[in-house]
Order: sequence, then structure tokens, then C-alpha cells
Amino acid sequence: MLNNQNRGRLISFEGVDGAGKSSHMARVKAHLESLGLTCVQTREPGGTPVGEAIRALVLHHDMDINTELLLMYAARRQHVAELIEPALSRGAWVITDRFEDSSFAYQSSAGGAVWEQCVALSKWALQGFEPDLTFLFDLPVEVSKARVQARGADSDKFEAKPDAYFEDVRAGFLKRAQLNPRRIRVINAQEPEERVGERVLAELDHFMTTHQVKAKA
Ligand code: TYD
Repeated sequence: MLNNQNRGRLISFEGVDGAGKSSHMARVKAHLESLGLTCVQTREPGGTPVGEAIRALVLHHDMDINTELLLMYAARRQHVAELIEPALSRGAWVITDRFEDSSFAYQSSAGGAVWEQCVALSKWALQGFEPDLTFLFDLPVEVSKARVQARGADSDKFEAKPDAYFEDVRAGFLKRAQLNPRRIRVINAQEPEERVGERVLAELDHFMTTHQVKAKA
């Protein structure tokens, strides 16, 4: 077992679609690797065979909101047990495209699942496990929508939701940020991509300094 200093760290990337999460994840991965750290990239829902099977279900089937919430947490529990925790234990850093802030934003704030029940479910399923650092890419809904449309990527059931739904998703994320100011860094994703990227790396460096993480090379 590694001591705390050599254990890896979990960084999650959150926000509505169109905020440029993927390119910033790639930038963070390259930066960590340039410091000699091993970096594992993953996503939610997904990251394991069970999680990917759940992803195929929840992204393309309408269902009761609490069923959806439970499936998100089932996938997450498997993700932590099978991939994230073992990686952190061997000293790797894990970067994940979404983690549980998405469940509070999508299933609770926008979908109507009771917030306090999400809190209880989280405690039961994850027992206090949470990312060490979270980047929340914040964007007005109309900007997000325009970017997603321009991208023309494959859509899932969430992307077809009305603007009001995404206003609630955004509000849910911002509420989580307010409740977890130490962990969540809100990044204004409206700025040019280069500027946003610089801000992300500056926050990462700050995190590494304050947590006394040492580069290996
Ligand atoms: P993502 O892979 O970011 O979507 P895309 O491939 O369109 O970029 O996330 C998949 C979708 O799952 C996204 O619309 C948000 C949703 N989601 C939830 O509703 N709850 C959750 O807990 C998670 C992790 C994702």
C-alpha cells in the first residue's frame, strides 16, 4: 500500500456538453505525463464493462428518474471498485469525464430526483469517496447548445432535452460548486479555448503545490 503522498489523485471534469471538456482532459493528461506521472483516462457512465453496458441503457432509454439515478450509482460504484481505486492505489492519476456532480445536476436538479436522496445514495454507494479536484466548465445554455449543434456529434436522450432542462442542469452544477468550494473549480468556458486551457493548468499547478505533489521527472 502506498502512503498518502504517493497515492494517485482523482480529477473529474464536469459541465454541460459543448464546454470543451475533451480537449482540456487531453491537455491535463499530457501535462501530468510530462511530469512523469502515470495517468488513466476514463468516463462516466462507463469505464468498466458493467459501466459501459449501463451507459448504453441509460443514454438511450427513457425510464423512471430514480431508476436512472440508481443505475448511474451502480455504474459509479463498479467504476470506483474496479478501475479508479486500484489505479489510485498503484500511484496512477485518474482523470474522468464526469463523476457524481453530474448525477446531482442531471438526475436531481433537472430530472427531479430528491437532492437529499442523492446525498444518501452517495453516502451508501461511495462511502465518502470523492474526487480530489473537479473542473466545472460553466457555460450559458445557448452557447452550449450552439456548440453542440455545430459539432453535429451522435446524440443521446439528454441532448434532445429542452433549454429549461439545461438551465436546471447548470444551476445544479453551480449549487454543487457552492457546497464544495474546496474541491470544485468553476471555469468560465466562454473564453477562448487557449485561455480556458491556461486557466485549467494554472489551477492544476496550484492544486499540486498546495498538496505537495512532486513531479517524478
Ligand atoms: P458525456 O459522455 O459527457 O456526453 P457526450 O458523449 O454527449 O459528450 O455524458 C453522457 C451523458 O450522460 C450526458 O448527457 C450527461 C449524462 N449523465 C447523467 O445524466 N448523469 C450522470 O451521473 C452522468 C455521469 C452522466
